[in-house]
Amino acid sequence: MIASGKGGVGKTTATAFLGTELSRMDKSVVMIDTDFGLRNLDLHFSLDQKIVYNIVDVLEGTCSLRQALIPLEPSRKLYILPGSKDYRYCLSQSALVHVLQELTKDFDDILIDTPAGISDTHLKILPCVTEVLLVTTLTDASIRDAITMGSVIKKYGVPTRILFNRISKTAMAHMENRHLLYLSQDVFQMESIGVFPYIGEYGMHGAKKIQRSLQQICTQI
Ligand SMILES: Nc1ncnc2c1ncn2[C@@H]1O[C@H](COP(=O)(O)OP(=O)(O)OP(=O)(O)O)[C@@H](O)[C@H]1O
Ligand SMILES: [Mg+2]
Repeated sequence: MIASGKGGVGKTTATAFLGTELSRMDKSVVMIDTDFGLRNLDLHFSLDQKIVYNIVDVLEGTCSLRQALIPLEPSRKLYILPGSKDYRYCLSQSALVHVLQELTKDFDDILIDTPAGISDTHLKILPCVTEVLLVTTLTDASIRDAITMGSVIKKYGVPTRILFNRISKTAMAHMENRHLLYLSQDVFQMESIGVFPYIGEYGMHGAKKIQRSLQQICTQI
């Protein structure tokens, strides 16, 4: 489960990047968009016009899982279960459990992109997952909301690691070993799974740096 607390910190971006990288590492991967009403994961793969069925159709039994899953790579096993535009949908936990049980048979990794905030959707997904990746940037608001989210997750006893996102070159160079370590150990009291750079600063020539960060994170999943 990819969660954050504060919105806009990079949950959906992280889901798309990690899913793609894991599949490059020969894992079979499915990414699920549970941001009901505000789906965005499909945008990362330019799918908007290709979506026929979505996660709510599957959960409500309108279509089969096979009908809704969209393959993203011809040569690798990377799939998306697209989100729904239905903002009023109230997640059925039993239906979700059934879908996850089916997907577990076919995929090595299931990445669940979740909405911003702490909602009924999060509380229903939490008992169904093996781990949470808690995404945060270095802004005060993001850190505070991630801490709050972390304390909610703790009540469910789900192992959680921090993923630092949008980290500038300066922060990467000077703060990685001190400030980020301080944040994960002393502030969050959680292990960090890694640091993802602020992509805009790297441009085309930073592709290798970004790839390395992704690989470091993915080897720990
Ligand atoms: N590492 C990064 N470097 C540069 N830009 C990034 C990075 N991660 C995310 N962004 C940008 O930040 C914005 C928000 O990202 P994203 O939609 O992934 O956040 P989110 O947490 O899923 O948001 P929401 O809470 O609304 O679902 C997007 O414009 C995205 O391109
Ligand atoms: Mg999102």
